[in-house]
Amino acid sequence: MTYAAIKGWGKCLPPAKLTNDDLATFLDTSDEWITSRTGMKERRISHVPVSELAYVACERALAAAGKTAQDVDLIVFGSTTFDELCPNAASNVQRMLGAERAACMDVNTACTSGMYSLTTATAMIKSGVVRSALVIGAEVISPIMDWKNRDVAVLFGDGAAALYLEASEQKAGVLAESLGCFGESRDILAVEGWGMKYANKGRVLGDAHWNFIGQEIFKKAVAGMAHGCESTLAKLNLTAEDISLVVPHQANLRIIDSLAKKLSLPSEKVFVNIEKYGNMSAATALVAFVEAIEQGDVEAHSHILIPAFGGGLTWSAHVVYFDLKPRAESTSNVQLPATNKSALTLVEEIIQATS
Ligand code: ACO
Repeated sequence: MTYAAIKGWGKCLPPAKLTNDDLATFLDTSDEWITSRTGMKERRISHVPVSELAYVACERALAAAGKTAQDVDLIVFGSTTFDELCPNAASNVQRMLGAERAACMDVNTACTSGMYSLTTATAMIKSGVVRSALVIGAEVISPIMDWKNRDVAVLFGDGAAALYLEASEQKAGVLAESLGCFGESRDILAVEGWGMKYANKGRVLGDAHWNFIGQEIFKKAVAGMAHGCESTLAKLNLTAEDISLVVPHQANLRIIDSLAKKLSLPSEKVFVNIEKYGNMSAATALVAFVEAIEQGDVEAHSHILIPAFGGGLTWSAHVVYFDLKPRAESTSNVQLPATNKSALTLVEEIIQATS
């Protein structure tokens, strides 16, 4: 049987940090409210387009795998904030990397896009269509954020992560997953003004109204992720006790706590980095997974459970297996272009451009 082993991993977080106190300078909110209701302390604001974040994350993933761009058969780019819809974003990353052999596709399932991209690439490797792939979860959501709306503006940040996958005859990579969508509830997480439906309607792109029903999303997120986890564990004949680490989508610390309680998972098995980055949509789960590997939290013979949910309302839960403790072959010296702009300045520029 062929598996799709995860041989490389990398992330790219833009340097500018937007703190809760920064948000309180232009929104009626406070560090106390945001911290106690969400667990978030700061998030990143990008000074470059999403493809550049993705490119740097890919260079780092290739270096960790000890591979070059010539080794890549496929690039799957998961996001909701593609720089362009045509040509696609994966082709831009292909060009920046010089990965001319790679087929290129974009995937949009909102916040689960990185995880659906992982499924797409894994399935194509397992079925023999390709032998290697770069999987990207990346988002630059700040230019389209509804910065006047405190219900959502405090929740999101920008970032990117990438994995390099390769065909292997050893048991490795995604062993099973469950995917689904609560389509009947799609309107509780909607962004008005974002998409072709609004073309030629006299609207400035970026002038978007985020219509979220937070408490309903909260309940659906816990229900979808819990169901996904139970169904994936059942496929593999595993129980929660067999899981070494859970790396959940980071949308709200209270959602993560509710999920852990529902699945009877002890908090020491649950990876959390929400305080540093907030919710980076498509990048969130993959950035957390990459960070768990980089921190040495992934051991040999470990099963990692990764539940996620997003607009749609899509949900997913993957079990990933490592036979050996993951170790990077090398590191990349590719960096983002420098900026001296603060996150608050970047946000103020966006607000000015869209008002
Ligand atoms: N600062 C201060 N007060 C606020 C803020 C804020 N940023 N946002 C809302 N409030 C106020 C509300 O207006 C409300 O005031 P009221 O009682 O006078 O009416 C009060 O705080 C409580 O609001 P609730 O909506 O009841 O707060 P709740 O505890 O449900 O937390 C939250 C809101 C954080 C949005 C939560 O419901 C949540 O996390 N929901 C799901 C998360 C989500 O939507 N994430 C995006 C998903 S996208 C993705 O990952 C797919």
